[in-house]
Amino acid sequence: MKLSLATRLFAAVLVTAVAVAAAMGISAHVNLSRDFVGYLNEQAVSRLELAVPSVTAGYRERGGWDFLRQRPELWHQLLRPPVDKGAAVPAVKPPPPQAELAGASRRFSLLDENRNRIAGFTDPVAEAIERPIVVDGITVGWLVLTPFESVSSGAEKRFADAQVRAAWAVGVAALLLAAAVAFWVSRRLLRPVRQVADATHRLAGGEHGIRVPQRQGDDEVAQLARDFNHLALTLQRNEVMRREFMADVSHELRTPLGVLQGEIEALQDGVRSLDAQALRSLHGEVITLHKLVDDLYELSLADVGALSYRKSALDLREVIDDTASAFGERLRSNGLSLQLELPAEPLPAFGDARRLRQLFANLFENSCRYTEQGGALRLQARREGGHALIELHDSAPGVRAEHLPRLFERFFRAEASRSRRSGGAGLGLSICQRIVEAHEGRIEAGPSPMGGLCLRVELPSAA
Ligand SMILES: Nc1ncnc2c1ncn2[C@@H]1O[C@H](COP(=O)(O)OP(=O)(O)OP(=O)(O)O)[C@@H](O)[C@H]1O
Ligand SMILES: [Mg+2]
Repeated sequence: MKLSLATRLFAAVLVTAVAVAAAMGISAHVNLSRDFVGYLNEQAVSRLELAVPSVTAGYRERGGWDFLRQRPELWHQLLRPPVDKGAAVPAVKPPPPQAELAGASRRFSLLDENRNRIAGFTDPVAEAIERPIVVDGITVGWLVLTPFESVSSGAEKRFADAQVRAAWAVGVAALLLAAAVAFWVSRRLLRPVRQVADATHRLAGGEHGIRVPQRQGDDEVAQLARDFNHLALTLQRNEVMRREFMADVSHELRTPLGVLQGEIEALQDGVRSLDAQALRSLHGEVITLHKLVDDLYELSLADVGALSYRKSALDLREVIDDTASAFGERLRSNGLSLQLELPAEPLPAFGDARRLRQLFANLFENSCRYTEQGGALRLQARREGGHALIELHDSAPGVRAEHLPRLFERFFRAEASRSRRSGGAGLGLSICQRIVEAHEGRIEAGPSPMGGLCLRVELPSAA
């Protein structure tokens, strides 16, 4: 049987209320029978003590118990408290003892000196309470009380029943109230939860545009709705990005493949002769394709967190110096000058030297590609607080301000046609960003006072 959450919650509160009501009823009943019976017995004992003088007076007056044997109906008269003949008639009659209302005197018995019953309650039990009747120093009999054992008859029974009825009434009222509260709470709380559950189901089915109504407040249910909407939005964005990415990848692969295909067909048709020039061109296209596939592979590894890093303590000055030397020839042939401003003291960092070299190589590569002939590059490295700060400036052209925040997106090229001519797919800076993030650093792009672009890399310092 499939029970909804609302039904279960309702049942749980209901069962709790019933248990509480039952416990209340039982404890009221137990208390009543124990404490109330104890109270009645105390009252009965004081009534017994009050009766002793009357019974004694009766014996004294009649000179024995025979009058009671002959007329048992006199027994109840005898039990009444003696009236002090000498005293004035009291203005207010004293209230009858509580025990009288409960019928205590009906539980009295009178035994003679040999403990034979003369009058009263039939069978005095073993735990009966006794008081001797003493006349002139001689015990002439015993007044005996058979204690109450349970609340079973008369006024005390009515009182007990009223108590139990009140307990039941309270129990039933609590039960109804709890049921109403459970019903209300389950409807009010669970409706939004049900909405989220339905929406999650549809989201899992690929409906990324689904949202749930947001409620005011900061309780868990409102938080759940907010988080769900956030999750759905993220999934929707990721889905859009994934589609764009797939479209970009196929587009980027199709271009060099198309060029290759065209060149090969031209060779096959004899339109072009297979000479060194043609081979160089084919080789160039293959290299472009190869780099593209490599970069995509690296990025996909970085995205799943599988890009391996072998970190060790290193001096960033050495990494930068090595990379700059490797680009010496490229810079010269492009007519670019490089000004390296490295600090005199080491720039310690904890990182993967190979990946960091790849980072700076990508930046140098971009500066070589996108800086006009005869331009200049300046690399400044210094320590600031707990960080190593590296800035690479170059001269014109720069990147338009509105494009700056997008430079680190995959496949983004500021000036698509020019960048494509220079062989770029728009992946280099994305890879740089992944490398910097893997070193817990930051990378930003901004305009350079030299007229071009400034790439600013911040890496945590090792010491
Ligand atoms: N130093 C720079 N000066 C001017 N524009 C730049 C510079 N560096 C990058 N850009 C612009 O930013 C874009 C993105 O650079 P990124 O390195 O990510 O890709 P790419 O160089 O086009 O291709 P890839 O690096 O994948 O071969 C470039 O296409 C270029 O338009
Ligand atoms: Mg690049």
